[in-house]
Amino acid sequence: MAKDPSMTGEVYYPAPEVVHGAHIPNYDKVHQEALADLPGFWGKIAAENFEWYKPWKQVLDDSNAPFYKWFVDAKTNIIHNALDRHMRTAIRNKAALIFEGEPGDLRIYTYQRLNREVCKFASVLRAMGVRKGDRVTIYMGRIPELMIAMLACAKVGAIHSVVYGGFSTEALLGRIEDSESKLLITCDGAWLRGEIVKLKEIANAAVDRAGTIENVICVKRTGQPVEMVSGRDHWYHEMMALPIASTKAETEVMDAEDPLFILYTSGTTGKPKAILHTHGGYMVGTATTLKWTFDLKPEDVWWCAADPGWITGHSYIVYAPLINGATSIMYEGAPTFPYPDRWWQIVEKYGVTILYTAPTAIRGLMRFGESWPNRYDLSSLRLLGSVGEPINPEAWKWYHRVIGKEKCPVMDTWWQTETGHFMITPLPSVPLKPGSATRAFPGVEVDVVDEEGHSVGPNEEGFLVIKRPWPGMLRTLYRDPDRYVEAYWSRYAEQGWYLPGDSARRDEDGYIWVIGRIDDVIKVSGYRLGTAEIESALVSHPAVAEAAVIGVPDELRGNHINAYCILRQGFEASEKLKHDLKDHVGHEMGPIAKPTEVFIVNSLPKTRSGKIMRRVLRAQALGQDVGDVSTLEDS
Ligand code: PRX
Repeated sequence: MAKDPSMTGEVYYPAPEVVHGAHIPNYDKVHQEALADLPGFWGKIAAENFEWYKPWKQVLDDSNAPFYKWFVDAKTNIIHNALDRHMRTAIRNKAALIFEGEPGDLRIYTYQRLNREVCKFASVLRAMGVRKGDRVTIYMGRIPELMIAMLACAKVGAIHSVVYGGFSTEALLGRIEDSESKLLITCDGAWLRGEIVKLKEIANAAVDRAGTIENVICVKRTGQPVEMVSGRDHWYHEMMALPIASTKAETEVMDAEDPLFILYTSGTTGKPKAILHTHGGYMVGTATTLKWTFDLKPEDVWWCAADPGWITGHSYIVYAPLINGATSIMYEGAPTFPYPDRWWQIVEKYGVTILYTAPTAIRGLMRFGESWPNRYDLSSLRLLGSVGEPINPEAWKWYHRVIGKEKCPVMDTWWQTETGHFMITPLPSVPLKPGSATRAFPGVEVDVVDEEGHSVGPNEEGFLVIKRPWPGMLRTLYRDPDRYVEAYWSRYAEQGWYLPGDSARRDEDGYIWVIGRIDDVIKVSGYRLGTAEIESALVSHPAVAEAAVIGVPDELRGNHINAYCILRQGFEASEKLKHDLKDHVGHEMGPIAKPTEVFIVNSLPKTRSGKIMRRVLRAQALGQDVGDVSTLEDS
């Protein structure tokens, strides 16, 4: 692409061959056309690339905003497009999933084999009484059965609620109870750094306390003895060997707006929010964003190295690649096990062409130096991607130079659990600036505004807003529509804009630079954690009366957590107690939520209405000016 001397800052132009073959070689034109007729744009994509049992009457119904509806009255099932239709074409013999376990075991699922497994498991679910609209909680390691369980739920019309396998008892319990799941699908354990994470043990602790679970299905992965409760717990492999596990399973006909899944994510206050996504719009949005942003071609080997337990995995490991008929890699374990070359070995071994990961993983691998990746032939790679937090320019450049050999553009994709799919991202034809997610995906209208909603000037910080609906948007918070309106649509209610909760700036060239969260969400290694959840884990310890946690910038993980605790009477501060508190959070929430530092304090800065001012703690921790503390209870 020709250089544009008017562009500011450090700009990386895509090579002509990258632009040439791309699905969307001319971003500006497509974006303008999409904005001029949004329903027309998405309607055309939906009609040409997906199969529907019954067409829609209207592409977008905005009469009851912010409760938008997409593809009104249409009938489909995401599984019909992800699996069923491929059984009629040559795609059925193609590898859908190449799985490498941490111990080195390998499994390859063709589309046909995957479909058989999904049909069998869907039949098992039906035989167990799972019906359309029922909630099923899934708590597993990164193994193919996790994907099969999700797909089988969708096939029978059940709503899956996947809880990340790195979470512990308390987090799992809260999510089971809130969704009122009757069935839990789990596994005995997961391999991580050569050790077993005892998932069944954690699941048992949660299920014993949860009132709703009637049955547990357990996949045997790690093989150590586990407690199986008679009458309640069933082995997956035994169920799949029964005659009820029929390979002939109908795909449930769903309304485009019927729920596909809920996924809990941390918000500003209180308990995690149950984000709800649907069959129709989510299908169209995820598949199209993947195809265009990563220029997905039939011969690609796509590796999204996230966990299926997070939205990145839902959208870009499970659903979008299958809908596009792509071949995906799934790797179970840690990137550094047994040595820090494991990922590069996988790229070479399977000829990965597109690698999509998080800045924290890049920074983690960068630490070990260039010699590890340099031992491998990484020439199959043609595109790279990043997600989860702002990528610092040094990490971007290392990724681009050492992994991408300066020929692979880096797609820095900004989006959220709520948005379902990429919202701000380059396409392969867009010139790149390290650290910027560049421009909105075609048809997405973003702005950076002040409190009143006026666009701020170039390079000024403001609130990121999304001005128009998009197909993969969350439809509501499960059973909590008021909180949905309050959390996302109340700040700019008059204008009808969506508030993602991020601050950003836009430079002279219209490029968006996301800065970070404006609320009490902390991103640790790209994982989204709410201060409220970690604080309630801390106060569930007998020694803690009150607690506050903050995120502190961390070179490797983006942020780490500092905790401030007031002790109950009769407890004394000690190094051992601090240690116990860290472990307690790890045990309750999961290792990612463990505070790095615990401080025992006599008081916490609060407003007169009793709200903890984490801003003051943060400023103190960073040695900054604490700013205006006039509203503080006891300044
Ligand atoms: O703060 C933004 C950050 O991650 C948040 C969304 O987190 P979650 O719902 O867990 O989804 C993560 C994976 C999609 C956003 O509000 N974020 C995500 N991607 C980026 C990012 N920040 C900067 N640049 C990104 N590319």
